Amino acid sequence: MSKLNIGIVGAGRIGKVHAETIAYRLPEAQAAAIADVNQEEARKVAARLGIGRVAASAQEILADASIDAVLICSSTDTHASLIVEAAQAGKHIFCEKPVDHSLARIDTALEAVKKAGVQLQIGFNRRFDANFARVRAAVASGEIGQPHLMHIISRDPAPPPPAYVKVSGGMFLDMTIHDFDMARFLIGDEVESVYAAAGVMVDPEIGAAGDVDTAVITLRFRNGVIGTIDNSRKAVYGYDQRVEVLGSKGSIATGNCYPNQAVVSTGSEVRRDLPLNFFMERYTESFANELRAFVEAIRSGQPTPVTGMDGRVPVVMALAARKSYDEGRVVQMAEISA
Ligand SMILES: NC(=O)c1ccc[n+]([C@@H]2O[C@H](COP(=O)([O-])OP(=O)(O)OC[C@H]3O[C@@H](n4cnc5c(N)ncnc54)[C@H](O)[C@@H]3O)[C@@H](O)[C@H]2O)c1
Repeated sequence: MSKLNIGIVGAGRIGKVHAETIAYRLPEAQAAAIADVNQEEARKVAARLGIGRVAASAQEILADASIDAVLICSSTDTHASLIVEAAQAGKHIFCEKPVDHSLARIDTALEAVKKAGVQLQIGFNRRFDANFARVRAAVASGEIGQPHLMHIISRDPAPPPPAYVKVSGGMFLDMTIHDFDMARFLIGDEVESVYAAAGVMVDPEIGAAGDVDTAVITLRFRNGVIGTIDNSRKAVYGYDQRVEVLGSKGSIATGNCYPNQAVVSTGSEVRRDLPLNFFMERYTESFANELRAFVEAIRSGQPTPVTGMDGRVPVVMALAARKSYDEGRVVQMAEISA
């Protein structure tokens, strides 16, 4: 079978990660072209990774009949319209999270994908992390019995600049979105209602921009499981990414990942180095795994493991969390519409 020919749109932080995976770790695929409105950046990435062509625009990539699939790695506000254009051009699509901040625009994009009959995978990479996949396996197989409680701790090492807060849609849509996806993934069921207690503890400028930087979100699942998501934009000791599920037969928990396993013991203390600092280091393997899964799904004609609907539901959860915070009450998922 020939290699899957991929076009990459966006040569920023995450575009580079995926371009490197294709170049170094995915022999079943090749990056045929890359486009970025910042042409200089696209040229640099292409030169470094041996990508044959720098396209003048995403549209130039979509018009190329030799390209089978596109990776949409550009800023969030471009995702929905690029999905529509890519679907209409008959390309399979991998799109970074979140699909969009508007459910109406997400629905338009998903409709175009359905109509074109192409495959779509959303970039919820954490599902492909070995720790979290093991927790999911324990829940799915019944190893810990019937799940009762689920806890996600998800804290960033440092807040983004306040300017980013405005374009990103805020903490729930940009950061917690991964945890909303993780909650659905781990429990294998849908959330019915959320309650968000949130505040500004880290940076008053984030508050001035209309966002929060600290939150605990309570989730109630359809199957009765009760969950919490604990978010902070600033954990001084580094990226804190842990989960625990308690079930009728036991629990399963994952800790943080460290650059080494060394423990230093002295006369006054026992200590170790700080956890891997941020997502680029912590989730390196999951980024490669998700792309491998995408390429496999396209080549085998099987459904992708993270569908368009998997991209939509966490946006509903994020909008519900924001409404809960604004109105100081429990919000039902069913209250959120396009
Ligand atoms: N899955 C994850 O963990 C993860 C991590 C980081 C970012 N992301 C998502 O990936 C997307 C990009 O984030 P980033 O951190 O790489 O941002 P970034 O700003 O580093 O890169 C985005 C790039 O897209 C380019 N761009 C913007 N509009 C374009 C267009 N119309 N055509 C071509 N290029 C265009 C910009 O010039 C920029 O180089 C965001 O949606 C973000 O939420 C996901």
